[in-house]
Amino acid sequence: MKNGLEDVVAAETQLSDVDGEAGRLIIRGVSLDDLVADSSYERTATLLLDGLMPEALDEASLTRRLGEARADIFRHVEAADATILALPPVDAMRALLARLPDGEGSDVAIRLMAASAVFLPAILRLQQGRTPIAPDQELSQSADIMRMLNGTPPSGEQISALDAYLVTISDHGLNASTFASRVIASTQAGLTSSVLAAISALKGPLHGGAPGPVIEMLDEIGAPENARPWLEKALARGDRLMGFGHRIYRVRDPRADALKAAVRKLAAASGGLPGRLVFAEAVERAALEILREHKPDRALDTNVEFYTALLLEALGLPPASFTCVFAMGRVAGWLAHAREQLAGGKLIRPQSVYVGPEARAAA
Ligand code: ACO
Repeated sequence: MKNGLEDVVAAETQLSDVDGEAGRLIIRGVSLDDLVADSSYERTATLLLDGLMPEALDEASLTRRLGEARADIFRHVEAADATILALPPVDAMRALLARLPDGEGSDVAIRLMAASAVFLPAILRLQQGRTPIAPDQELSQSADIMRMLNGTPPSGEQISALDAYLVTISDHGLNASTFASRVIASTQAGLTSSVLAAISALKGPLHGGAPGPVIEMLDEIGAPENARPWLEKALARGDRLMGFGHRIYRVRDPRADALKAAVRKLAAASGGLPGRLVFAEAVERAALEILREHKPDRALDTNVEFYTALLLEALGLPPASFTCVFAMGRVAGWLAHAREQLAGGKLIRPQSVYVGPEARAAA
């Protein structure tokens, strides 16, 4: 039995390759750097879904259908009642997604991608006592998300930064949420069910729930000179440092650098490197040093969540929403994996080893 299925191969995929020793990520034959340099959410979603949907999808048709689906899905925002709005954003988003019909076709897939984009801005605004803003189907998905959040047209740099984020986290091998999506797909339950399972796996702090706590950590540390004592105390308590360590990477997560570059670009557009980034880099250096001392036998490096936190914060998003923004990007990967599983896979049903007591005679 392999605890946590570590090193167990449970699927063949054409979607992404995570090389944990070299620190390299390839998505459908394109390296992460190339994908981020010349991509958009729509182009990456098209790349991921290519050949996996019942009919051919090109970038232009996906872009048009996503815009139409955003406009259509907005009516479901009405279902966000007081009970739903009292939940953290990721749970509120899951509750709204759970009301959507299930199925296997491209309409269902596109509706799920559109829904994640529309529901988060609406939930955040309603939780702040503001009116949700209806989608503009002529805009790109990233531009429309920023506009629905803030009510004003976003700058080109903000759109590029959000695109860079959504592309960077669009797919990543057989991570926990993607595996959950494939398990559900293997039962033929439908794409909505796959996405609901995936989002439930994503929200945990050991997976996509880490970036909110990264901001809490930075805020509690407050100044570079506090980093070492704060981090040492956290490790002495047995806490894990959020934004560090990875099941597959034994070197720095390449997504961390892609996102750091996006934060720098966004900061430069608004007139230079903000103190926040310089401070975060100091905390990162201290954390890496302490982790090396604390766990000399385990290579623990920066993961995607550390710079996710900084990028989403720089875009003005509240930490409680970070997992939902992760879901907005990863939903394309979840859907592609679910379709791939359905096309070629069997029911996923592993074995367990019974270690309980022997059967007893009934009393
Ligand atoms: N801080 C402190 N110690 C750590 C950390 C960390 N961030 N990560 C791993 N370790 C330690 C563990 O305590 C463990 O020590 P032990 O052997 O004495 O028990 C050892 O390193 C190995 O850790 P595992 O839990 O076996 O490694 P695993 O591959 O299961 O964990 C994980 C990967 C869950 C990401 C882990 O590194 C972690 O908890 N990181 C912090 C949370 C985080 O950043 N999550 C986001 C991950 S990226 C993503 O999912 C999108």
